[in-house]
Amino acid sequence: TYVITQPCIGVKDASCVDVCPVDCIHPAQGEDGFDEAEQLYINPDECIDCGACEPACPVTAIFEESAVPEEWKNFIQINADHYA
Ligand code: SF4
Ligand code: F3S
Repeated sequence: TYVITQPCIGVKDASCVDVCPVDCIHPAQGEDGFDEAEQLYINPDECIDCGACEPACPVTAIFEESAVPEEWKNFIQINADHYA
C-alpha cells in the first residue's frame, strides 16, 4: 500500500489521480469535497502497489508504506481512516 503524506497538504497537485490505474486516490478533482479536503488519500484496500503515483507527485508526498519517513508514519493511519 502506498500512502500520501504531509507535503500534499495545501498542494493537492492531483497528478497522482491521473496515473492511478485503479482510481483509488480520492477525492479527485471534480468530486464533492475536493476543494475542502486538505490533502488526498489512498484507499489501502484498493491500492495494487503499482508504484505509478510515487514519481508523479511533484512534492514527493507519496511513499510505499514501509518507506514512509519516521515523522510522517501517522499518515498511514490518516489515509486508512479516510476510508473507514
Ligand atoms: Fe494507485 Fe498504484 Fe499509487 Fe496504489 S501505487 S495508489 S494503485 S497509482
Ligand atoms: Fe498530493 Fe502529490 Fe497527489 S501533492 S494530490 S500526492 S500528486
